[in-house]
This record gives sequence, structure tokens and C-alpha cells, in this order.
Amino acid sequence: MHLTPLHPLFAVRIDPPDLAWRPTDAPTAAIHAAMDEHAVAVFPNTRPLDDATHIAFSRLFGPIQRTPVLQLTGKRERLAAPEIIDQSNLDQDGNILPDNDKRLLYKRANQQWHTDMSFHPVRATYSLLSARVIPPRGAETEFADMRAAWAALPEAMKQRCESLEVEHSYWHSRVTAGGPEPDEAERQSRPPARHRLVHRHFGSGRKVLYLASHISGVVGWPRDEGQALIAELMAFATQRQFVYRHEWTVGDVVMWDNLATMHRATPFDDTQFPRDIRRTTVREAEV
Ligand SMILES: [Fe+2]
Repeated sequence: MHLTPLHPLFAVRIDPPDLAWRPTDAPTAAIHAAMDEHAVAVFPNTRPLDDATHIAFSRLFGPIQRTPVLQLTGKRERLAAPEIIDQSNLDQDGNILPDNDKRLLYKRANQQWHTDMSFHPVRATYSLLSARVIPPRGAETEFADMRAAWAALPEAMKQRCESLEVEHSYWHSRVTAGGPEPDEAERQSRPPARHRLVHRHFGSGRKVLYLASHISGVVGWPRDEGQALIAELMAFATQRQFVYRHEWTVGDVVMWDNLATMHRATPFDDTQFPRDIRRTTVREAEV
């Protein structure tokens, strides 16, 4: 494999050794090591991976999520494989979703800085996003290095954060991004979860600020005070020097470590242009 750094702090491009290379031949230990160092890896492909290869590649790195992130009352999935999370703006027939569709309104919440699945007690380790169809403009993905952000925090702020526990709620990020309130069944399908605000990254030993737009508050703190702290940390951690922006080419697979980074989608004209982008998610344990 050939590694090319993409940013002074993190993110790397990984090119295969030759054209005959298939993702399922990947040297898993070497990729884990590259991920522990760089946290984001871009794998270019001349053709998009099919779903089966995408799943098989992802499975090399741990237990794969097999349930949709979002189950809305009365909506069907577009894609057959339960491991593939549909991050497109398309309905089950491949048409662009109308502007008022709940699925589209919720997907736009991914334009806020977040880390995947932090609203679940079993966190996500890696996400792998595969680009099938990309719009002509916009829809880049930005990543923030949460180990570098932690390291750069003033000492007093580190001490303030170190022992805090926070609550992550999927619906908090949907609704604060302007999405509709979920119905009761939807709300109960995704209860909130609590996590430490700061953790030590297993593979690198470095400390991480584990932030996401899903955070609704700091446990034991008044709501406003907790949200003010989270907003301050968000602003600090997403300064330009901590951010790598990925401009997609069809076929790219981008893999990131949710326990060391945050990410967000940038806007695009999602009622005019299709964007078909598919995710698999590796979890800390089988769920
Ligand atoms: Fe995400």
C-alpha cells in the first residue's frame, strides 16, 4: 500500500500496491495501524465497490451494524443489504426525495458536526462511506481531528471536561437541525445514551474529545450550562487547523475512526441532484 498524507495533522490517502488488488485482500493490521495514526483514510477506486465487497471489506475491521440508523413510520428501505446504511437523497424507487420528506429533513442534520452512533450505548468505531453518485457541486465531507483538538485545549478547560459524562440523543440533533419532531414510536426506537466526554483512544493511547451534535446536555448540569460548554468545545474543535475537507470522486471509499474524529456533510442542491452514497458501520461490539 502507498500512503500519502492529506493534512498536517491527520487523514491519509491509501493506494493499493497494484491494479489487481481487491479490497478484501487488504492487509488488515496495516490498515488498523494507519487508522490509529491518521484516523481518516481515503481509498480511491476506479469503479465504485458493489455492496457485497463494501460489506466484506468493512467486516475485516470488526462487527458490522446490521440495522438502519433511522426507522421512520411507514417508510421502506431502498437498499436490500441490512449492513448498508443509505445516505442518499433517494426514495425506494430511486427518485429524489421531495423537499418536505421527513427522511430528507433528517438527513440534512448530518450537516452538523457529529460522530456516528454516539447516541447508542455501543459506540461506532469505523464508518466506511462509498461514493456511487455525486452531485456536481457541494456535498463534500469535512473531518475534525478530535485528538489534536483535545491536545490544544487550554489546561483549565481540560480539567473542567475530564470527568464529565454527557447525554447523546439522535432526536436532539434531528430537531435542532430544523427537522420535525419524531412520533412516539420513532422516539422510542432511538433512546439516548451516555458517554464520557473525554476518552483515551485505544489504538493510539491519545486522549479524545468525544463530541457530537447529538449531545443534549452534561449529566448533572443545568441544561443551559451544559449546552453552553458543548457549544464552546464545538467551536474550538472545528477550527480550520483541525479540519480536513474531502472532495468526493465516484468510487472513493472513505473510512474514519468515530472515536478520534467528528465529521459533517456540506450542503448541496439536494432537491435537484442525486447523491448516492452508502455507509457501513463497525461497532465496538455486536449489537
Ligand atoms: Fe455521519
